[in-house]
Amino acid sequence: MLLFYCSLAIIAVVSAKNEEYMGFRVYNLTFSTQEQQDKFHLLKSDLIEFWQRPNLQRNVVGQAMVPPSHFPWFEEQLEKLGIERSLHVTDVFEFLKEKDPTPMLRNNRNFDYTDFYRYNEILNHLNTLKESYANNPNINVDIIQHGVTDQNRPLVYLKISRATTAIRPVVIIEAGIIPNEWITIPAVLNTVDRILEGSAYLDAFDWIVVPVVNPDGYEYTHTNLRLWSKSRSTRSNLGIICPGVNINRNFDLDWSHFDSSSSPCSHLYAGVEPFSEPETKLLKHLIDEYGTRTRLYLSLQNNGGFLTYPWHFEKAASGMFRQHHLTGIDAVNAMNENYILGAASVVFGERASGTSVDYVRSNGLLYTFNIDIVQRGNGVLIPAGEIRSIVDDVWRGISAIVNSII
Ligand SMILES: *[C@@H]1O[C@H](CO)[C@@H](O)[C@H](O)[C@H]1NC(C)=O
Repeated sequence: MLLFYCSLAIIAVVSAKNEEYMGFRVYNLTFSTQEQQDKFHLLKSDLIEFWQRPNLQRNVVGQAMVPPSHFPWFEEQLEKLGIERSLHVTDVFEFLKEKDPTPMLRNNRNFDYTDFYRYNEILNHLNTLKESYANNPNINVDIIQHGVTDQNRPLVYLKISRATTAIRPVVIIEAGIIPNEWITIPAVLNTVDRILEGSAYLDAFDWIVVPVVNPDGYEYTHTNLRLWSKSRSTRSNLGIICPGVNINRNFDLDWSHFDSSSSPCSHLYAGVEPFSEPETKLLKHLIDEYGTRTRLYLSLQNNGGFLTYPWHFEKAASGMFRQHHLTGIDAVNAMNENYILGAASVVFGERASGTSVDYVRSNGLLYTFNIDIVQRGNGVLIPAGEIRSIVDDVWRGISAIVNSII
């Protein structure tokens, strides 16, 4: 568990978008010894966010975003461990002016894969899709609401099925659980398009798709802080000054232990208790509802070119290790981008508690994967012009997994 830090710096009133990151730096870090890798936890704190975790075995250069208050501490830690560093970004606020420009007015845009969209636009897109299948005798497309967020946005999922009463196996896919990982959302919507085109996918399964698990956080990344990674709820004792829970730490398996924080001000805050958040409850509801009918569960994230399976909370693979690994090989081979395959705790070099995929696996579901979509050198800041090629590649991976379990 991380130490409790609460800095007044992160609760200052914000006027311009991303202003909170003024003076923040991003350091590139390269591990060269196993000792450095093993002591990675010494570089972590509630106020340091890794755009990319460094990894020796996988040859991954790490990127740590550090607030000015922590420059001396962080550099001292690096020197103690002898870790090589270079300054990648000298001021994140200035950097984001270029990488995260204020968008043009967004009225009545056509929905395609050349840009990112606001939550309302995504909901409109889903409604249009539903209407276009309203008179189709073979395919049902439903939008189902399960509760609302703390800021009163509808929490919805799509259900796509054949017009039949037969009970069929289910595939569940979630995107946007970490809201700054925008690329996951077009990736899942493109998957919906491909499913609707391919009769074999519809013949074999009912599809449940949660396009944006965390809409409050997602909207906040558009309006206030591009790199926000939690929800916007205020249940903790510090809720008003430090809102939000990391939804992918709020599930009950090994809750609030590894890579989690009990500080509401941390980006890794695990919540007041497991399943405290409406977003977590939505995913739990799907598992309660579909249970072991669920043949495949995918969580889309954007932590940089990894295809992982449980466990994340302990350094071991779950009982389905062989099936997961063989299916994963098919997916990795199908994708053009380079994806690293393995058990999450091993691939990331550390454990994480309370994740959605571990929760699903612990409920007896067979195939469960995280697809951590490739990055483009600056964490989750994926240029809009690259959306199309990335989401097509993600579909290659998803379709390979689905084909191998049909
Ligand atoms: C930091 O790492 C990124 C991604 O690997 C790379 O594109 C960038 O050039 C590096 N910056 C420096 C200053 O080395």
